[in-house]
Amino acid sequence: MTATVTATAPGKLIILGEHAVVYGKPAVALAIDRRMRCTLSKASDATVNGRPLDVTKQPYIGNMMRHSPFPIRAETESSIPSGSGLGSSAALSTAFLKALNRLKGDDVDDKRLAEDAFLIEYEAQGRASPLDTSASTHGMGIALNGPEDSGDHLWDISKNGNTWSVRDIKIPKMTLVVGYTGIHAPTGPLVEKVRRYRNKCRFAVDMVNEIGKITLDGINALKKNDLVTLGKLMTDDHKLLSILGVSCNELNKLVNTSLRYSYGAKLTGAGGGGSMIALTDCPEKVCESISMRGGTPFVVRTGEPGAMIEKDRFK
Ligand code: PMV
Repeated sequence: MTATVTATAPGKLIILGEHAVVYGKPAVALAIDRRMRCTLSKASDATVNGRPLDVTKQPYIGNMMRHSPFPIRAETESSIPSGSGLGSSAALSTAFLKALNRLKGDDVDDKRLAEDAFLIEYEAQGRASPLDTSASTHGMGIALNGPEDSGDHLWDISKNGNTWSVRDIKIPKMTLVVGYTGIHAPTGPLVEKVRRYRNKCRFAVDMVNEIGKITLDGINALKKNDLVTLGKLMTDDHKLLSILGVSCNELNKLVNTSLRYSYGAKLTGAGGGGSMIALTDCPEKVCESISMRGGTPFVVRTGEPGAMIEKDRFK
């Protein structure tokens, strides 16, 4: 008999603070109702979706399989577009490790899961923050490096002299429209671009600090359920991210068209392509505008639970 375990984990969107969070500034991420599902069983050879594991094409899975004492047959299924800035790689690492721990019989708490999934991300993409993997592990809404009164402390994660504190934050019911540009934009080179800019230019350091301030104001607006202020801060954040060099024409077009019917809009995640988000009361109108400008829109709901075991059985 073979043990088979299925785990799922949500994607996320970053509502404020991407890039600046890499330098210890606050950021807020919300889990969304798009999930990654991983089904794992022990096998004689390592395979992914019926094919032999190819570590050059699947570096995340390759790294995780290296931590396994036995070869694994893995099946993955996702409703999170990959390279879209919606945390698909973090959801993959989180769901995979959640299933792998159960398969190994290891009792691992959420802090360890978020940390281990973060280390997989770090190994595969270099400099990164634990924002995505913490959001995918915990679900709902989280703040990294938020002030003490922003919510209950969940865990701290440290790497290379940086420590990020992760808090659970209460989020109001919100309708967000995601506009996917269709441009696959890997996170690593964009994080590297900001690092180079920040190293050579004082102005870029100021912008990172400014994003940090906007995010703190956004946490207060979320607390007060003040969507007007939150939306404005999101749009301001987009402007700063554009100056930092991580937006692109396609993202700007989608942000611009969404603003007619939204409280605010911005790129989400690493940028350079990927997706933007709009906070709105008129999701149909925003979806229509995004489609007309060549993007792929979808409405997301927040308040999504974190990583969980879906099935654990023998076959
Ligand atoms: O590309 P995403 O959605 O995984 O987001 C990356 C967010 C960054 O702040 C740019 C990097 C990070 O790891 O926090």
